[in-house]
Amino acid sequence: MLFKQQVWLRQKLLVLGSLAVGSLLYLVARVGSLDRLQPICPVESRFGGAHSQAEFPLRALQFKRGLLHEFRKGNTSKEQVRLHDLVQQLPKAIIIGVRKGGTRALLEMLNLHPAVVKASQEIHFFDNDENYAKGIEWYRKKMPFSYPQQITIEKSPAYFITEEVPERIYKMNSSIKLLIIVREPTTRAISDYTQVLEGKERKNKTYYKFEKLAIDPNTCEVNTKYKAVRTSIYTKHLERWLKYFPIEQFHVVDGDRLITEPLPELQLVEKFLNLPPRISQYNLYFNATRGFYCLRFNIIFNKCLAGSKGRIHPEVDPSVITKLRKFFHPFNQKFYQITGRTLNWP
Ligand code: A3P
Repeated sequence: MLFKQQVWLRQKLLVLGSLAVGSLLYLVARVGSLDRLQPICPVESRFGGAHSQAEFPLRALQFKRGLLHEFRKGNTSKEQVRLHDLVQQLPKAIIIGVRKGGTRALLEMLNLHPAVVKASQEIHFFDNDENYAKGIEWYRKKMPFSYPQQITIEKSPAYFITEEVPERIYKMNSSIKLLIIVREPTTRAISDYTQVLEGKERKNKTYYKFEKLAIDPNTCEVNTKYKAVRTSIYTKHLERWLKYFPIEQFHVVDGDRLITEPLPELQLVEKFLNLPPRISQYNLYFNATRGFYCLRFNIIFNKCLAGSKGRIHPEVDPSVITKLRKFFHPFNQKFYQITGRTLNWP
């Protein structure tokens, strides 16, 4: 009898213990996720907004975070959104490129900042004539819901190389902040090629080798008609943008460093966007299986980028690499000179 009572008592203690630990874990996770969405004063004073942090007690924020989520799923009425001051704001900063520079990683990592809300999809408003014809309200409606004191950021890498885009963005907002993430030009061109190659392979199509596309077989010179090469001549594209925006409105992100050491790069962006430093080493952890840094929002919610980011590149003839590097060198020098950021590419 005594033995039975002891067993019963032990079981009860075990259940109570698990409940206590579970609740504690839940609370810690909640606080972590709330911190992410907490509107912050310095941001508000810079970007304007109706509420101060004091007006957003944690409980209310918790509810509001849920509301944002529900609205994204289409479960909330417009009236509720209006009541809670949710808005769809035009972006205050745009990641304009460069394709394969690490644009997705940059957007996702900036989204760790509580004052930043990302547009998840590439909207292609300024580079696609059909979308552009739909007007600015169409564009705004594509933006995620946010609190007025947050800023929206979108990324569409084709913006950087598309002729009409600088003027169109200028017409929307001449003081917008523009982020360009670049990688060593030859590596970027190979990454670009790898993406196209994967698409062809998926459709069971054959494709040329990189060497054949990048080098003109008649002249044995770099083929400047090949898009992957042209895109990597960063200075040529930037010069078009500079007809509309002063260089102070651009910030160059080192995409190679974002891979190996993301935090200092993100801190430079926070500064450029006049955001208080909120992204910390806690938010970024190296995942050895992926071979990349992944994102940690709180103790429960982590994520790595999709498998399409970080592909294995095909081997390229070293003489072709040397030729390309030599070709890009003068353009790189000019790019460093214009932007004031030296990246020590070969
Ligand atoms: P590779 O696939 O060549 O490695 P974009 O998002 O502009 O298409 O850029 C894709 C590149 O982002 C990838 O190129 C990858 O190297 C880089 N990248 C940077 N940080 C990353 C991260 N944390 N996880 C995955 N890819 C990352």
